[in-house]
Amino acid sequence: MNAQITIPFALRTDQLIGSVIDSSTALLASQKHDIVRFAMGAPGEDLIPLAELDAAYGTAKRGRYDYGESEGEPRLREQILKLSAESGQATTDERVLITSGGMQGLDIAFKLFVDPGDVVVIEAPTYTNGYATALSYGADVLPVPVDDEGMVVEQLPGLVAAKGRAPKAIYTVPNFQNPSGVTMSRARREELLRLAETWGAMIIDDDPYGALRFSGAHEPGFLELAPQHPLVFGVRTFSKIIAPGLRTGWIDVDPNIRDLAIAAKQAMDTCTQVPAQHTVAQFLEEGHLGSHITRLLPMYAERKDAMRRALHAHFGESVQATDPDGGFFLWVTFEGELADVDTEELFPRALANGVAYIPGPAFTTDGSMRSSLRLCFATSTLERIEEGVQRLARAVRS
Ligand SMILES: Cc1ncc(COP(=O)(O)O)c(C=O)c1O
Repeated sequence: MNAQITIPFALRTDQLIGSVIDSSTALLASQKHDIVRFAMGAPGEDLIPLAELDAAYGTAKRGRYDYGESEGEPRLREQILKLSAESGQATTDERVLITSGGMQGLDIAFKLFVDPGDVVVIEAPTYTNGYATALSYGADVLPVPVDDEGMVVEQLPGLVAAKGRAPKAIYTVPNFQNPSGVTMSRARREELLRLAETWGAMIIDDDPYGALRFSGAHEPGFLELAPQHPLVFGVRTFSKIIAPGLRTGWIDVDPNIRDLAIAAKQAMDTCTQVPAQHTVAQFLEEGHLGSHITRLLPMYAERKDAMRRALHAHFGESVQATDPDGGFFLWVTFEGELADVDTEELFPRALANGVAYIPGPAFTTDGSMRSSLRLCFATSTLERIEEGVQRLARAVRS
């Protein structure tokens, strides 16, 4: 009898592609042998401020296990206002909504602005889970190439004209982009703001890595160039600067948008988990974030350099890697005698050799960029980075 039952899925489930990145967590967890983890974009366990977080969690506050306000716990919102002002993107309480990580901010953004068939500009390559979320609301995605200065905004008018419809939203990771590590130049940010105004399109400004600059000069954020601009939807998270398991982030948006965002969030999880919000608030109130980031930056710079050096030592001129000024990622492309390496095909061999990464096609909508891959340098110690790149070279040459 069961064989005749069909499950009445909604049409939108055709567009639920899931996350290659997140499924790699499950795949890695099931491996029994030692694997150097260059796949997930997560801070190394040695770089999570465990003692401070555990102590902060243990600081009981009234109502910690109640439902909280959908807007988020007031003491955390207060800390976010301070952080935003310090980063040059001062905001106000009626613009801030605490979310369950950056992902919920992205989900709310695409939910509010994208109807099926609407054009959404994305970077190529881009953060897999970002475009997957746009697709889940039926977006017709329009990829725009990325170079050393971020999205090639100069190409955008031509691509939009060829598409024949103006975009509703432009999704960008402007700082130390995931997966390429590049940062958008100021001139391009200004031009993108101008184009967004022309088209009446939202800029979904997803910036988890901006505070993690270890070299080079600061590029002003969209909300710094155009304070409180109604077309800029800021998506922020504590995942990369404190710890991803806290699942705590926020959005910074026009107050009218925030009202709708609160309604959208109430339909998802009512409020972000209250104990995690108090833990983050306590951590911030005690002033740990500044010293924590000060400790992280030279270590990330060192890890990035070590990874680039190891790539050069083991692959010579046959790989090209980006050289980011911050964040977590190197984008690596095989060239010359290795130009026909297919990183998706290579993956099982790499895993067998004890190293994990994310293949390039995971960051594209058309399965291209097959000779590229993303390596996260933030998770592993210097010794493990050398070991992991050696294993990668062994997998490639085997
Ligand atoms: C560009 C970008 N946006 C959003 C997220 C999601 O952040 P969270 O883990 O806080 O949901 C990530 C995490 O990898 C990311 O790299």
